[in-house]
Amino acid sequence: MNVTASAPAKVILTGEHFVVYGEPAVVMAIDCYVHVTVSERLDRAVHIVSDLGISGLYAGNKYSPEKRGPQAENVLRPVNIAAKTVLDLLEKKTGLEIKVDSQIPVAAGLGSSGALAVATVAAVGKLFGTDFSRDELIKLSFDSEKFVHFEPSGIDQTISSSGGVMVYRKGKRPNPIEVKSEIPIVIGNTGVPRKTGDLVNAVRKRLNDFPDVLEPIVHAAGDLSTRAVKALLDGNLKRLGELMSINHGLLSAIGVSNEPLDRLVYAARKAGALGAKLTGAGGGGCMIALSTLEDREKIADAIREAGGATIIAKKTNAGVQVWVNE
Ligand code: PMV
Repeated sequence: MNVTASAPAKVILTGEHFVVYGEPAVVMAIDCYVHVTVSERLDRAVHIVSDLGISGLYAGNKYSPEKRGPQAENVLRPVNIAAKTVLDLLEKKTGLEIKVDSQIPVAAGLGSSGALAVATVAAVGKLFGTDFSRDELIKLSFDSEKFVHFEPSGIDQTISSSGGVMVYRKGKRPNPIEVKSEIPIVIGNTGVPRKTGDLVNAVRKRLNDFPDVLEPIVHAAGDLSTRAVKALLDGNLKRLGELMSINHGLLSAIGVSNEPLDRLVYAARKAGALGAKLTGAGGGGCMIALSTLEDREKIADAIREAGGATIIAKKTNAGVQVWVNE
């Protein structure tokens, strides 16, 4: 028997980084997915094959690379951590064969590692007859996310397991919001690699160096997210776009935008985006432009001309899904 789970990527519409300090963020699942397929092995090893052309075998904590050498292990270890968490919880003394197929660019601000962790936990659970609740999925995928992000707020696993749009506040129950309108998004990927944990640490340092200047900005960002929720509920995309652009300015102030991101943000605005901002940790990775349905291609062309790779995406209400193949 083998089992597949799929989990969606996310975009943060407003409030990344500020969410680490207790402010609300607005996050949306998008129709771009990772698929994880698992089956049982008779030995106790975990063998992982990723469509990034990386594969390797874990026997306990010992890693033996197959394709792409030991440094590529960074991509596979979080999968092993998530799988092991479930094996230990369910007291299964068996091995696993895991195959990862992902449409989500890695380390680019779209929550690829959160989606991968959630899908792995859901698939391994189902393989042994357990359907985890949303809360259990979030909790069980945390150690895997910690390996990638050091101190994650939990926003990525939460949205990836539930889908839809939600207001997320660290340590609080997420608040799903029912958004009736389409939220057409054009994603621009700078292709510049970065690590979320490094950026979170850099923001913390800047906040420590300039508390009087930056703390009001943190609170302003929280207020901005509350206004963005109202705009979403009212279906007022023009206002949401304006708030997203202001949010980009606040993210620049805390030091997480850079020239490649700004170039794509300005190209999108010039091409008629309702608003544009970096999304996720910044420092590279992706930006998002809010668009009307008609303007998506025009905005995507402008982003490509400015050097970005593009994904045209929209909201998905589907969170993690899991099914038995045979
Ligand atoms: O870039 P991503 O997808 O890892 O998003 C990070 C979001 C932050 O707010 C910067 C960090 C967090 O854990 O919430």
